[in-house]
Amino acid sequence: MNQVLNTFNGTEFTTGSAVLEFSYLVAAVLFVWGLKLLSHPETARRGNFLAGAGMILAMITTLLLHEDSEGHRIGLANVIIIVLSIGVGTVIGIIMAKKVKMTAMPEMVSFFNATGGLASALVAVLEFTNPLNESFLVTLLGLSIGSIAFSGSMIAYWKLNGTIGNFPSGFLKYVNIFLLVAIIFLTSYILLQPSPHNFKGMMYLLFAISLVYGILFVMPIGGADMPVVISLLNSLTGIAAAMAGFIYHNLAMILGGIFVGAAGTILTLLMCKAMNRSLWNVIVGGFGSSGTASDDLEGTVKEVTIMDAAILLAYSHNVVIVPGYGLAVAQAQHSIHELEKKLEERGVRVRYGIHPVAGRMPGHMNVLLAEADVPYEKLVEMDEINKDIENTDVVIVVGANDVVNPAANENPGSPIYGMPIINAALAKKVIVMKRGTGKGYAGIENPLFYKDNTSMLYGNAKDTIQKLVGEINSL
Ligand code: TAP
Repeated sequence: MNQVLNTFNGTEFTTGSAVLEFSYLVAAVLFVWGLKLLSHPETARRGNFLAGAGMILAMITTLLLHEDSEGHRIGLANVIIIVLSIGVGTVIGIIMAKKVKMTAMPEMVSFFNATGGLASALVAVLEFTNPLNESFLVTLLGLSIGSIAFSGSMIAYWKLNGTIGNFPSGFLKYVNIFLLVAIIFLTSYILLQPSPHNFKGMMYLLFAISLVYGILFVMPIGGADMPVVISLLNSLTGIAAAMAGFIYHNLAMILGGIFVGAAGTILTLLMCKAMNRSLWNVIVGGFGSSGTASDDLEGTVKEVTIMDAAILLAYSHNVVIVPGYGLAVAQAQHSIHELEKKLEERGVRVRYGIHPVAGRMPGHMNVLLAEADVPYEKLVEMDEINKDIENTDVVIVVGANDVVNPAANENPGSPIYGMPIINAALAKKVIVMKRGTGKGYAGIENPLFYKDNTSMLYGNAKDTIQKLVGEINSL
């Protein structure tokens, strides 16, 4: 029974709308709780599940109880169309999530971001001409922010999967400033009109300029800055969704959007901090797209045999493993856990030094090692492990490169200068496992490989580790 409970400012509040608003409140609590649980690997799955449950609750109650300004519920035909669309989207999402390789996760995040931005932009385009919509500011903000998030995320997606390369940032900076001014000017112009509804052409122009801005803003950004940009675009998608929520006066959309926007912004800033770069520098700097400073490499690269490495490790007191992108490529997480257990059985203390941007996405190493059941207490954050690195007998660098590159501390001309690193070079001995002379993500030489205390153990990380375990077994 949809009883009128109260009337305020001419609006009737019914039992249905009260239940709907209450369900949004429950959904909001589930979002916050989910976000909290997502902050630790052990509870992250539950967090994901709770936040998802909040969203499903909000969608079901909206479909069943939402009323328009005349008190009409959503018609059956529309409900069927919406449910079918959700079904198609869900199937595609599940297939993509099941098939995606861990190393391609940022691409998928970018793609999903793009769809979120596009959806918000399309809502704004449709609602712009709706005579009942008077919220022009949020409509236009949703339109431009959603479009930038869409086109920017698609460019990020194509850049990450190698379809398109980097662009020199040079003159694009000025074009981008011009486009930003044009977006602000057009938005203000439309808003100042007595009947903005009639300025459909201008609205489409704003849509087009925002799309172009999204493309040109991401084009020159390269190298290690991509995850920061993806996180920034993610927060833009959240803000655009919140704007769409304001258009529909829908609390769940507003809150969901704001949470995504806030979480994305915090992650963006944290990643900038991890690379010791300002957000402005990331956006206009074009890191990784320009040439690199010449590296001052002294010393020679030495190799170590599996047997010598096994002896060194087996008779150490404490060992730190620094995993990187190559560990993910080689899928060596289970093997490294086995090596860690073998060494611990022999009384060696083994810990993992985790750099915040090791791998290709935030938390990449944590997820990978959790998959192999490495206990969380063995994963030590960069700052903590650095305090102890000088007392470490052996640091094993497994498929990591940039995150242990001393050029970040020593070479002011290096593009990664100032980025905090794990100071592997300060350990008594360093063993670097990689396949050959390949560079890291930043595309620069690594003086660590030339240091006196460093030895290279070439080969695919998984094979090398398995051979090491075999050798240690036979000692
Ligand atoms: P990288 O600097 O990319 O180095 C990875 C190294 O692994 C390469 O030098 C490669 O050398 C080696 N490798 C590749 N496949 C291997 C295999 N099968 N077995 C053994 N070694 C293998 O990795 P990193 O130290 O983890 O640093 C991450 C970089 O990515 C940073 O520059 C970071 O800023 C950037 N980045 C981070 C993120 C986030 S948020 N985590 C996202 C995007 C980019 P060989 O070819 O010689 O084997």
